[in-house]
Amino acid sequence: MASQSNVSQMREFDADDILCDPKSSIVGSGSFGVVLVGKHKSLNKLAVKVMECHGGEQTKKRFQKCAMEELGKLQTAQTEHVVRTYGWLTLSCGMGIVMQYYEGGNLRDFLLNDEITKGIPLRLRQLVETADGIAFIHNLPGHKLVHNDIKPENILLTRDLHAKLTDFGSAKLAATTGSTTVRLSATGEKVQFTALYTAPEKLKKITMKPKRDHDVYGYGLVIHMSLTCEEPYPPTDGVALLNAIINGERPDCHAIDDLKAGLNNNDKGAVEVMEEEMKRCWEHDPTKRPDITEVRDKFQSLVDAQNPAAILEQVTNAVRQMDLKVERPAENQRVPIRQFSPRHQTFVTAQDLSRPAVNIDLPSTSRDTPAGQSSRPQLMETAHGVTSPQEQGISVSHTCIHISLPR
Ligand SMILES: Nc1ncnc2c1ncn2[C@@H]1O[C@H](COP(=O)(O)OP(=O)(O)OP(=O)(O)O)[C@@H](O)[C@H]1O
Ligand SMILES: [Mg+2]
Repeated sequence: MASQSNVSQMREFDADDILCDPKSSIVGSGSFGVVLVGKHKSLNKLAVKVMECHGGEQTKKRFQKCAMEELGKLQTAQTEHVVRTYGWLTLSCGMGIVMQYYEGGNLRDFLLNDEITKGIPLRLRQLVETADGIAFIHNLPGHKLVHNDIKPENILLTRDLHAKLTDFGSAKLAATTGSTTVRLSATGEKVQFTALYTAPEKLKKITMKPKRDHDVYGYGLVIHMSLTCEEPYPPTDGVALLNAIINGERPDCHAIDDLKAGLNNNDKGAVEVMEEEMKRCWEHDPTKRPDITEVRDKFQSLVDAQNPAAILEQVTNAVRQMDLKVERPAENQRVPIRQFSPRHQTFVTAQDLSRPAVNIDLPSTSRDTPAGQSSRPQLMETAHGVTSPQEQGISVSHTCIHISLPR
């Protein structure tokens, strides 16, 4: 490993000590590969984010350095509403970040699931907790962190639906993994951002240093999804949408009016405050966006005015509707995480693992919409006659921007 000094409280795990059920261990996927759930002899259930790295020694070294930096950030950020991180492990394909496993999945899947009744107080509580995680990293003494990828998929839910912020330092890591979505090429490094949650000023100048008000902008869109339980924008032309956002376009708010019409006065008042804060967070002028602590405190006072028993009841109902299953495979059916092959998306024999990896360039659809997850619009655009973003070497899918940066 390149440097372990900045992750002193994290430990290295042995990839043979985390055992997975080959049939049901993949719990999520994103731009880096997959997240697996496994069982550790002393820590019990754990999630491991498997990050692939293909390439020469130089690439591997840079990948490890960045992975360690992400771990370092996670260590610094350890607080109640940030994913609990234990350490890392080394795999033949790259490495894994070892975290606590959260059974509730991510906030996006929760909000878009029509089967679940989601009361306003519960949604508010999740927003307070998310804002609290962001506020913590924004106000660390000495070295303030910026998350840089705030979106509902990066907010995990515990079994009782408390929110935990995850996925730190993605943009930087993405530049070096050489993974299926983002790879190093002869022409330059590629960096991926999530287009729809990226602040317009950053879309205009993609190499801009991450700033706290970018996180606040992303949080504004999280509030929108929390209120509407819909994607922020309908499926449409990715390039045109990107340019529209740069020119001030924001998600439609009619669904919020419909929501208010069906609420009691108490919840309606809360939704009005949430809507107001949402619009302040996604202000075009970054200087007009509020500090995240201000939003958190406002939302907290709304939660405090609620009856705690009512929130608990909403949690109990929602959890029942989510029907969270506890898989208990027999011990002898479990295999070590070392045998996981991102290339095959399954567990393989040690012999197969030792074969040299082949870089497979997956089509954008398979990486944006992992099997079993709700579908998202898929559009991989080329730069046809559009000026600003494309001139920066950017191609756009509906949810992601792929950027070629000069080395
Ligand atoms: N600790 C965990 N417990 C349970 N599920 C998890 C955990 N970590 C991640 N997941 C699931 O895996 C998904 C992807 O995780 P994560 O965001 O860390 O990966 P990613 O590859 O960086 O994604 P992207 O860059 O596309 O946002 C999450 O949205 C979530 O559904
Ligand atoms: Mg993510």
